[in-house]
Amino acid sequence: MTSLSILRSEFRERRQHSEQQVVESLLQMIDINDEQVASIHARAAALVNALRDEAKPGLMESFLAEYGLSTDEGVALMCLAEAYLRTPDDLTMDALIRDKIGPGEWSRHRGGADSPFVNVSTWALMLSGRVFRNKKGAEKDLGDIMLKVVQRLGEPVARVAVGEAMKLMGRQFVLGRDIEEAIANGQHFRKKGYRYSYDMLGEAARTQADAQRYFLSYSRAISLISEHAKFEVVHDNPGISVKLSALHPRYEFVQHERVMRELVPRMAALSEQARAANIGLNIDAEEMDRLDLSLDVIEAVLRSSTLAGWDGFGVVVQAYSKQAVNVLDWLYQLASDLDRKITVRLVKGAYWDTEIKYAQVLGLERYPVFTRKPTTDVSYLACAKRLMAFSDRIYPQFATHNAQTTSAILELSDAKTDFEFQRLHGMGEALHDLLLDSTNRRSRIYAPVGVHKDLLAYLVRRLLENGANSSFVNQVLDRDVPVDRVVSDPVTYVRGLDQFRNTKIPLPAQIYGDQRINSRGWNLNDPLDAHTLESSMSQFREHQWRAAPIIANLPVAGEAEKIISPVDHRDVVGEVIQASVEQVELAIDEAQRAFTKWSVKPVGERAAILRKTADLYEQNAAELMALASREAGKTRLDGVSEVREAVDFLRYYANQACEKLQTQEYSALGPVVCISPWNFPLAIFTGQISAALAAGNCVLAKPAEQTPLISARAVELFHLAGLPEGVLTLLPGQGETVGATLTSDPRVKGVWFTGSTQTAMYIDQSLAAKGDAKAPLVAETGGLNAMIVDSSALPEQAVRDIVQSAFQSAGQRCSALRLLIVQEDVADHLLEMLEGAANELIIGDSWNPATDVGPVIDKQAQQSILAHMHKLDEQGRCLFKSRLPHGTDLGTYVPVAAYELNEIEDLQEEVFG
Ligand code: FAD
Ligand code: 2OP
Repeated sequence: MTSLSILRSEFRERRQHSEQQVVESLLQMIDINDEQVASIHARAAALVNALRDEAKPGLMESFLAEYGLSTDEGVALMCLAEAYLRTPDDLTMDALIRDKIGPGEWSRHRGGADSPFVNVSTWALMLSGRVFRNKKGAEKDLGDIMLKVVQRLGEPVARVAVGEAMKLMGRQFVLGRDIEEAIANGQHFRKKGYRYSYDMLGEAARTQADAQRYFLSYSRAISLISEHAKFEVVHDNPGISVKLSALHPRYEFVQHERVMRELVPRMAALSEQARAANIGLNIDAEEMDRLDLSLDVIEAVLRSSTLAGWDGFGVVVQAYSKQAVNVLDWLYQLASDLDRKITVRLVKGAYWDTEIKYAQVLGLERYPVFTRKPTTDVSYLACAKRLMAFSDRIYPQFATHNAQTTSAILELSDAKTDFEFQRLHGMGEALHDLLLDSTNRRSRIYAPVGVHKDLLAYLVRRLLENGANSSFVNQVLDRDVPVDRVVSDPVTYVRGLDQFRNTKIPLPAQIYGDQRINSRGWNLNDPLDAHTLESSMSQFREHQWRAAPIIANLPVAGEAEKIISPVDHRDVVGEVIQASVEQVELAIDEAQRAFTKWSVKPVGERAAILRKTADLYEQNAAELMALASREAGKTRLDGVSEVREAVDFLRYYANQACEKLQTQEYSALGPVVCISPWNFPLAIFTGQISAALAAGNCVLAKPAEQTPLISARAVELFHLAGLPEGVLTLLPGQGETVGATLTSDPRVKGVWFTGSTQTAMYIDQSLAAKGDAKAPLVAETGGLNAMIVDSSALPEQAVRDIVQSAFQSAGQRCSALRLLIVQEDVADHLLEMLEGAANELIIGDSWNPATDVGPVIDKQAQQSILAHMHKLDEQGRCLFKSRLPHGTDLGTYVPVAAYELNEIEDLQEEVFG
């Protein structure tokens, strides 16, 4: 292995290390002595005092002083700011104000008005008022005056006022609507000596058309910026910052091959253009899941011989990442190998909240980022030190608004001057003015350029950053926070901790507290996780399973039928022996016998078996996912969710039983029947069974005809976990025979069913016919799920969710989106984006992790969906329909499509796919 690939492996492994391990190694890298700590403190305290004495609070500070994110009202206003600017119509604007502002306790802040409109405009106008007052130095608070005006004039005025305030807030963070305006507006700061890096707003493209639009906007910006690139040294010139997620609609590790093929040439073209213009081009750092992929893109672009001798290529590194130091080591080696000089902008990281939540949702073992703010500061210092040592290859750019951090950098820099400070437009202005005056370093402003509709994701990050009570900018002007605390040394603080991890933020496995362990997940965008899963699943790529009736915990012999995969009909997944009517009778006898003991077993013991089963599911997850993929056509992502949901069910019902049944008099029903569907062949199967077993019933489980293999494996695992003989019986077979025999038997005391409404009614009748009024039917049947998208929704997010809900699992979920209702004002744009996003979906072999949409379950399902489409096609209702790729004729695939209805009544029934 080359040292580059060794560094890359170390980088990948670092993500799996515990925070404790990583922070220990960072602390070892920092050797600041007491004298330096004192010097940093003095310098930082002087800066903060100067800021407190001189700086007039800006718009953001005024806003934060009144409404921090720790108040409900602050959060409401942030939500309003997020949605308001793109909302085109008055009706929705008013509804939005009412929705967000109605419930707040505004009287605590201002005036005590009852009407949400008055409240919000008071706030809006107060902000504008404050700004006005600051400019003119007038003493009178315009808020009070404006409040009276608004009370007199009513809602339309409020709407306009809020709009103005929101625009003001947007302008706070955006330099201009287009690059010409931005360059013109930047003159004031350029005169002071600042440089700029322009950021064309827009990210997370959903469609090729949007990616193309963003590409053109970057390219055009480079052309215009080049006219202002008058200096020979590239770092003296303005630059541009680029987000890779804007340039490709599927910028995801699972789409690696495609990203390298399509995105790299786009980035290379922009880099070459920047080189020709002699301006710096910087690749912004985005979510942690993109990091690995971004390094591949960066390497591929940098390897291009056309970039040789140019020092302007830049990369952003986020210090909050556990892998930050490893990224620096790798970049340094890459630059050395290629004989290049690059720039590195060191930031702390803007996606912290997202990273934490995402890791929890995915059920990951660890967080990819640090969980304490001072630890990120420590990492920043360790990285800064590294960068200073790498100065032969790397030109460092320290991007921060924190005076303690800038003071530490200056202390560490040993009077070196070849680096620059950076700040964001609208933030840290006073601090950076002081730095510019007092040090001999370049200073650059990162300046977003664009229109409101592209601002929102960026704006939310800024509001979160400014609003967080831990952030420097939030504390610096607040005189209630002592200066010493604002500039306290993070290294000393972290060294004094027993546990480096923030114990107030539970690990993803512990988000349910002591109650229940979260199911373990796999991150398919983490190369190591994805690779481990792939290699454990590959053992089952050709395995053939066998399902048979399992009575008294033993499989029964008989004549077997083949189970073929919906993915590819040549793939024989295994074979099944159907239960005979005699076997059903026998199984009910066994279940009755077993019931006597099982129902009186202490609840805790029953729960323990379920928990053990959950653990066994997790230990055998790769096999279960392989089964889900081959037998049920589940994509990799669906497979992960399938196993996780099943594990959650087991632990959930174990807990519920302990909580609800231990202290209560109750009696179990007896032998019950669980009839489950193929669309969640493990999750729903397990959910039904575990609930019934936890309550002390014995279960006769009839899996779906299409998916007996995975259910047989599940039953084996239940038995392996210690379920006594006869408590859980598996009876594969047809609904009309096995199902009907079971449900009509008088010894059966209840039925759990998930499937069609028609079958549920049939079962209901057969239970009624038995005359056993006490035997319950628990049925979960079909329906038509609708999503309403109004004009306040961010189209990119709405489209992401529509695609996921409608097309994931090939639409074969009872919760799948069937009916999309879109407000007319935004319909054209939304539908265009939806079509573009649907075109990006990969339909095909579900074993391939890149596949988004696998097959539908069988020929019958395929034909019924195609017939429905055909009917709608003939009526001329098709909005879009994808083409099926080569190879899909081997399985039962259906194109991704959407149709327009005139009215809801046009949709008479659920078509399952
Ligand atoms: P501080 O208040 O000292 O630090 C705040 C930061 O601490 C948070 O943003 C977060 O990173 C971290 N933090 C907060 N709470 C915790 C916690 N509990 N545990 C661990 N860490 C925590 N960000 C990007 O992600 N990608 C970019 O490409 C990027 N480009 C930028 C370019 C420039 C020029 C600038 C100035 C910023 C850029 N940023 C980027 C944004 C940057 O990440 C934030 O502005 C920065 O984190 C704020 O740090 P600070 O030193 O100013 O403030
Ligand atoms: C962001 O977009 C500044 O890149 C950073 O939040």
